[in-house]
Amino acid sequence: MKELDLAKAVEQRRTFAIISHPDAGKTTLTEKLLLYGGAIQEAGAVKAHRAQKRVTSDWMELEKQRGISITSTVLQFDYRNIRLNLLDTPGHQDFSEDTYRTLAAADNAVMLEDASKGLETQTRKLFEVCQMRSLPIFTFINKMDRPTRDPLELMDEIETELGLKPYPVNWPIGSGDRFTGVFDRRTQEFHFFERVSKGRMRVKDTIIKLGDPQIEELIDKDLYYQFKEELELLDGLMPSLDLKQVHSGQQTPVFFGSAMTNFGVELFLNSFLEYALPPMAHESTLGLIPPEHPEFTGFVFKLQANMDPRHRDRIAFVRICSGKFEKDMVVYHARLNRSVRLSYPQKLFAQDRISIDEAYPGDVIGLNNPGIFTIGDTIYTGSKLRYAGIPSFSPELFAYLKNPNPSKFKQFQKGVSELREEGAVQIMYSVDDSKRDPIVAAVGQLQFEVVQYRLEHEYNVETRLEMLPYTLARWVENGWEVLENIPSLFNTILVKDVQERPVLLFKNEWTLQQFVGSNPKIKLSKIAPVL
Ligand code: G4P
Repeated sequence: MKELDLAKAVEQRRTFAIISHPDAGKTTLTEKLLLYGGAIQEAGAVKAHRAQKRVTSDWMELEKQRGISITSTVLQFDYRNIRLNLLDTPGHQDFSEDTYRTLAAADNAVMLEDASKGLETQTRKLFEVCQMRSLPIFTFINKMDRPTRDPLELMDEIETELGLKPYPVNWPIGSGDRFTGVFDRRTQEFHFFERVSKGRMRVKDTIIKLGDPQIEELIDKDLYYQFKEELELLDGLMPSLDLKQVHSGQQTPVFFGSAMTNFGVELFLNSFLEYALPPMAHESTLGLIPPEHPEFTGFVFKLQANMDPRHRDRIAFVRICSGKFEKDMVVYHARLNRSVRLSYPQKLFAQDRISIDEAYPGDVIGLNNPGIFTIGDTIYTGSKLRYAGIPSFSPELFAYLKNPNPSKFKQFQKGVSELREEGAVQIMYSVDDSKRDPIVAAVGQLQFEVVQYRLEHEYNVETRLEMLPYTLARWVENGWEVLENIPSLFNTILVKDVQERPVLLFKNEWTLQQFVGSNPKIKLSKIAPVL
């Protein structure tokens, strides 16, 4: 392929994920982005997606949730000649590793806040992951049509609590019943809010320039004065927009709106296209590989088994980092040291699977996975290389997983190993050979439920969990040798991960600190070292 065409394809792509706390409106915003991107004609089409968050112990719901969240792993749509890849992150309360991995494949993140709540726990956690990767973050403050917190206070919270400098691209006038619209600081125009109930179709904003005499009639006097004061404050005190800082994750462009009524969605999209990063170079064993590199390269960031329960298929999701992907191409698998033909590439949208013939950096393809791909695998053409891999994050819940029925031993082993490969849960083992049950390590309770449910329904094994009293896992970076002479452990156990690396499980922060204090030579890491 001509270098120029490849460069153009890269320039025309933006890949991103939305981070938020449940209920902030992620499903609604996603739907509205698709609506404005022309991928759906009427909002409501992706509604089933919403079942995703209503999960606790209702197994049917859980199944539904899985089916839905899987099929919409990547939503692709075009807007103003730019191809947007929206990587879906699981929406449920319990935190799963899937989200971390998805962020490894994104170039930008949209942080969605509920204007009445501001920053919430899951958003904070996800923000930390974005920050580790220095991802550019775009903030969308949603639900302005309802009573909100003071917008200045919300800005202050982002700055003081996340250390991220907010730059409001637009600014709201009133909120709740008195929400009148936003002022776009780029164009110096007011966009007036119209109260529509659900915003199923696209709407056109009424736009009026600053200084137009009509404004005094359209905005209540007190709100207008308050707005003028706030605008002066923003213009005078806040640093101006600096794209370099946005791209390094230090400054966040902020947008206000109401996704439910479509308000602010188009304004957001327009600026997002302009400010977001196109696919960037990725660190590899051969140094930084730019997306325009003519050879095809990519890495697996997510695996999903049994997407279609009737076929028991497995899909590996690959983020393309460089070059052009073509159906049926033969690539090299870095870890297995052999070539593989990529025969059935798929793109998934809602319930449909669409076969794809070509794809470019920033795109995600779904590959048939007959057990050859695991998370972090690199595939490439040309010179041998490996991408940096995706770290596993520190689990907080641990339990022995027991199979009470010895005749099911094989299915149990197979199920545990496949679910582990897929990354549904981390697995560890006791170093004491008499205790052979695997230890499942999870970030949230729901992961346990999913694993048990899937073992039962997909592998026909009923299991029991025996909770362990630990809450922190630390990988021992300097290997087994340093552990040889340590005295007996108090409120702590030593286990090994599936790669036989030593991991210490601590009861709480206090026991961890005690251990660190008395064993200064042992280097501990919160995340598993990348292989
Ligand atoms: P999530 O995926 O982040 O969990 O949130 P979701 O989009 O499902 O939205 C959560 C609730 O917030 C929904 O109400 C949704 O309609 C509402 N919502 C989203 N954006 C806005 C907004 O801009 N303004 C207002 N007022 N509400 C908004 P629900 O009652 O749970 O569902 P539904 O009955 O409305 O479908």
